[in-house]
Formats: sequence, structure tokens, C-alpha cells
Amino acid sequence: MLVLGMMSGTSVDGIDVSLVSISGASPALNIKLLNHTGVAFAAAIRKEILRVAEQTPISAGELSQLHSRLGQIYADAALAACKKFRISPNRIDLIGNHGQTIFHQGKAVPYLGAQTASTLQIGEGAIIAARTGITTISDFRPADLALGGNGAPLVPFADYALYRHPKLGRISLNIGGIANITVIPANAKPSDVFAFDTGPGNMLIDALVSHFTRGRQRFDKNAALAQQGRAMPALLDELLRDPYLKLAPPKSTGREYYGTAYVKKLLALGEKHHAKPNDLIRAATLFSALSIVDALNRFVFPRHKIRQLIVSGGGAKNPVLLAQLSAALPNLAVITSDELNVPTDAKESLAFALLAHETFHNRPSNIPSATGARGPAILGKISYALPR
Ligand SMILES: Nc1ncnc2c1ncn2[C@@H]1O[C@H](COP(=O)(O)OP(=O)(O)O)[C@@H](O)[C@H]1O
Ligand SMILES: [Mg+2]
Repeated sequence: MLVLGMMSGTSVDGIDVSLVSISGASPALNIKLLNHTGVAFAAAIRKEILRVAEQTPISAGELSQLHSRLGQIYADAALAACKKFRISPNRIDLIGNHGQTIFHQGKAVPYLGAQTASTLQIGEGAIIAARTGITTISDFRPADLALGGNGAPLVPFADYALYRHPKLGRISLNIGGIANITVIPANAKPSDVFAFDTGPGNMLIDALVSHFTRGRQRFDKNAALAQQGRAMPALLDELLRDPYLKLAPPKSTGREYYGTAYVKKLLALGEKHHAKPNDLIRAATLFSALSIVDALNRFVFPRHKIRQLIVSGGGAKNPVLLAQLSAALPNLAVITSDELNVPTDAKESLAFALLAHETFHNRPSNIPSATGARGPAILGKISYALPR
């Protein structure tokens, strides 16, 4: 099958699109990434998504409208990608679209008389299917949640398919808005795989950069600003006391925790330590790296021998972040996914092409040891296009 996978993460930078040729069945899936691209969100769309994802009160009507509007935007991204790839949409068999997360409560909490968990990824699949003429799978997370899982992370299915190795213990690290790891011990069965969010990826860096540049810059390109910052060890120590780091996995986090309120605290901490803007950007960058290292030391290395850390996501392009990871992890090889022929900015969209492929064939693709679900689940909802 030829499948388009689409991902737009918590950074809200845009939509990554991968074109993937897939055949076979797990654990012998044949996966070939044919092409990939990115489509940026228009500024007004990004602003509205961020407003909603920060849990600003909005009406049901506004949410409904945004859900449909994003369906149009994802459809247009799929069509633009086809044009760029010089392939007719008629030749694409399937789309897998993650959608935009605007709320995630993976662990059940008391609500209106019962323990309740929920997760909401918006962007109406029926609109994508209608506009593109391609059957579309969307809304992947609730099926896992319904079996008592966190509904996240789902990418470990792809990490396992791409990276499992008979002799090498590996960790797949994706640095998006949030950073997350998938641990794949040597010769692992799916049930040996575990995964969790380690804490901030680029989210705090992006927020500081747009604060200090008054929105003129959205992120610290190639860590140009962090490289001009001074070391702030006392400030960094305070950051590393973040209670999220100590929580035992499985755990997940997002803009609900590392959003505006957290950034306010970070700015106050910067003032207390007399940090200049670039000093604080540097500290936030090192905090991302060291919170990842902390998670590995605390929860992974005591149990598993790991030889490689395979980095993907936008943060793989941040040299200060990568250098800090390498320096703090002398006993393993820190490489980017590019070195294993998975482009760093295509890994997650490729994963949603794979998940869609599995769902289309009525096969489960959650990894219960990663999500905490009671068992396997077939993920997502299918919006059919008319047969061609
Ligand atoms: N050249 C670069 N230098 C530094 N950071 C980068 C670069 N390119 C991308 N990024 C970071 O990666 C982020 C996007 O990463 P991405 O993997 O798309 O995350 P998400 O899945 O949250 O959307 C950007 O917001 C930015 O912080
Ligand atoms: Mg992104």
C-alpha cells in the first residue's frame, strides 16, 4: 500500500507528511519511506490552536468549527504533499492523520461520578477523505484509552518495527515540543518495549525565544541564541528539581504542564538569577537535554544495557542539545535517525502511516507495555472515500 502519514505535534509548527510504501505484517513489515515534506501552519491558525491547547475557555461552537477547519487544512496539506511528490492522489491508498492534540488526560481522574480519562485530537477525518478522495484513518488514541491505557505513546510500534536489533539495546528519542523515549532492549519482544515522556523538548526554548523576540522568531534556529548564553549552574539545578522528572513511568506530559504558567515561573527564575535572555535560553536547552539524561539514569540504565540513542524530531537539529546529550552519556553512541535512513523530521509522520496501515488491515498497533492498556487495540476511526 502507498500510505500518507501526517503528524502535527505540540510545537504547533506545522504538519509533517510522509509517503510510505508498506507491505507485510508485523513483525515482518516492509517499510519504505518514499518521500517527506512539511507544511507550516498559517500564523492565525497556529495562534488559535495554541489558545485552545492552553485550555483557554472557548465555546463548543468554536471547538466544532476549529475541528472542521483543521480537517480542511490537513486535506490541503495532503494534496500539497502529493503535488510536491509528483504523485496523483488517486495512487494513494490510505491516509493516517494524527490530528492536533488540544487536550490529553491519559490517567483517569474523578469526573461527574466516575473515574474518567480523555484525549482529543482534532481535524475531521471525513473532511480529509472527502477532499482528497483517499480513505483516512484518524483519532488513534481513544481505543487504547478505552482499554485503560494512557492513549500514549503510540509511536513505539514504529520504533519497534524500525529499530529492533538482535544484539543492540537501543533507545529512540524524539525531541518535539515534548521529549519522549522508546526503550527497545536487545532482541526485544513487543512486550519488552516501554516508553514515556521525559519532559520538555523544544517547548520551553520556543516559548522563551518568542517571548524575548516579541514573536519575531519562533524557535532558536541551530541554537544560535543558546550558544551566546552564559552557563547558569545554580539556575539549572533549580530547574532539575522539577517534580515531573521523579514521577515513575509510564507518564506523559504536554502543554497543560509545560505551557504558559511554567514559562512564567522560568522567567521569574531567570530574574532571580540575573540571567540575560540568551542565558535563560541556554539554560532551558540544557534543561531539556539533562531531563532526558535524568530519565535514562533513573529508569532505564538500572534495568537494561543500551548501546545507541537514536534521536529524531526538530530537536535533533539543535546542536547545543545534542552536544549536551553526548557529553552526559559517554557510554553510548548518540546518533540521529538519519544515520539509520529515517530522516529526523519524518519519523513521527511515518509512524502514523504504519498505524493506519495496521488499522486498515484490522490489526492492533498499540504496545500495551508502553501505554498501560489491558491488551491490544485496533487504533483509530475510518472515514471511507468512495471506491475508485
Ligand atoms: N534548525 C533547527 N534548530 C533548532 N531547533 C529546531 C530546528 N528545526 C526545528 N527545531 C525545533 O523543532 C521544533 C519542531 O519539532 P517537531 O519535531 O516538529 O515537534 P512537534 O512534533 O512538537 O511538532 C521547532 O519548534 C523547533 O523548536
Ligand atoms: Mg512539528
